[in-house]
Amino acid sequence: MDQRARASLGWGCWLVALMGCTGGDPVAPPDAPVPEAEPETAPEPQGNPQLGALVFRSSCAGCHTSRDGLDLATFAYGDATVMRRALGHVDSTSARDILAHLRGLEVPPAPAGHAALTPVTRLFQPGGRVLADDLAFGLELFGEDAWPEGWSTDGLRALDPRDVPIALPLPLWSDENSNLDWMPDAEVPDAVLDANDGRARRHLEDYHRRGSEESLREAVAAIRVADRYVTGAPCSKVEAPRYDVCFDVRRWTATLTAQEMLRRGRAGQGAESDLPRWMTEPWWEVGQVSRRVMNAADSARGAGTAVDNAMENWLRWMYLGWIFDPGREPSPYLARGLVRTGYPRHAVFTTLRTLVSRQPGDLLAYHDARTVGRYAPAAWTAASLGFAFRHLGERLEAGESLPLEDVAEARSVVRAALDLARERLAPSALVELTALRDEVLDGLNR
Ligand code: HEC
Repeated sequence: MDQRARASLGWGCWLVALMGCTGGDPVAPPDAPVPEAEPETAPEPQGNPQLGALVFRSSCAGCHTSRDGLDLATFAYGDATVMRRALGHVDSTSARDILAHLRGLEVPPAPAGHAALTPVTRLFQPGGRVLADDLAFGLELFGEDAWPEGWSTDGLRALDPRDVPIALPLPLWSDENSNLDWMPDAEVPDAVLDANDGRARRHLEDYHRRGSEESLREAVAAIRVADRYVTGAPCSKVEAPRYDVCFDVRRWTATLTAQEMLRRGRAGQGAESDLPRWMTEPWWEVGQVSRRVMNAADSARGAGTAVDNAMENWLRWMYLGWIFDPGREPSPYLARGLVRTGYPRHAVFTTLRTLVSRQPGDLLAYHDARTVGRYAPAAWTAASLGFAFRHLGERLEAGESLPLEDVAEARSVVRAALDLARERLAPSALVELTALRDEVLDGLNR
């Protein structure tokens, strides 16, 4: 539809037309009378969508990494909101152009598990709702406040973490009142894009030109190197990090892969890792920098944190990454934070669900048992540690063998698992768990 046709139809009709009423509506009579009455106030002048696309790119895309504003169309922010936010960056003519452009974008289907996305959608919130607290989580999952006796490896593996409701709210796309959202508050610094002869910039330009996922993957890889390993990198571990910058670079990267995911309509159906790791890893890493902020604040005692809501961001982002890749990272990253904020049952669940996703021969599986032994709440300890030992026994029974240099460490963390739990166990449970532990130790000796 050309510009003039759109203007003569009027905005409302154009929207209707967009929604599929073009080409003759079979319901309306062909010669329905056209209302002639003039509106009482002159209509707002319509924006020019082509100009809007250009302005969006120059004035908004530094932060809105979709670059065409598809994120704003997808989460369906209202006209008044778009105008208000746009006016913070451009004049009212350009703001109207942007609005016209956004309204002309075709919104892809919502990711699995979501009906349609709205400003209050929490992307990938498991089950689409947030439970009241840790206890509610246990009751919802198992119907009682206990890890169920006799729960099997297959049973646990069949639980998709993306479907298990939790008490943590995952980030909104945009939250104007806090940093508990996906949207980065700042553009990615030039230094990051320019590092290594402009590697990230080159791949991003290629992605913008060709739209290929391959070039986006390369760009993300380049940013992930530039944010931590080059001289002066904001997330450096060898120089003083700039946590606030790092936090926003990471959110910027997180939205970059998320917008591609939204654009392609890809999103988490069925199999465990159907979003490639390079897309979800940046989400986990927003959690990682938030965790480092908390650790730094702990050691600086009361000096405050460089990033607001660091604790919440640690858990929410790590959880978001974890549900796509549960068998990957050391379990204490998530478990320690969960326990610290009063979610020990969540910690047991994530740790054991991680355990059953580990690759054969992964030393971290044995560390998972220790994580459970350390953090399980008293009423859950016997059954959940029993589960961990039985599962490790199954792995060894099935022929799992660790690299020789890992065996001593595996044995020591399995011992620690029971030692850490000992005080929370009834005598009979201790006897039973000792036997299970010894089977694992024997299996490791074979
Ligand atoms: C400097 C970074 C930056 C630029 C540039 C920017 N935005 Fe945003 N925008 C944000 C952030 C961050 C949010 C998330 C909410 C918040 O933290 O205020 C956001 C949120 C929004 C929202 C959703 C608001 C809501 O109700 O939650 C709209 C709409 C929006 N931006 C439009 C625009 C438009 C249009 C432009 C360009 C004219 C633009 N923004 C330029 C950073 C930016």
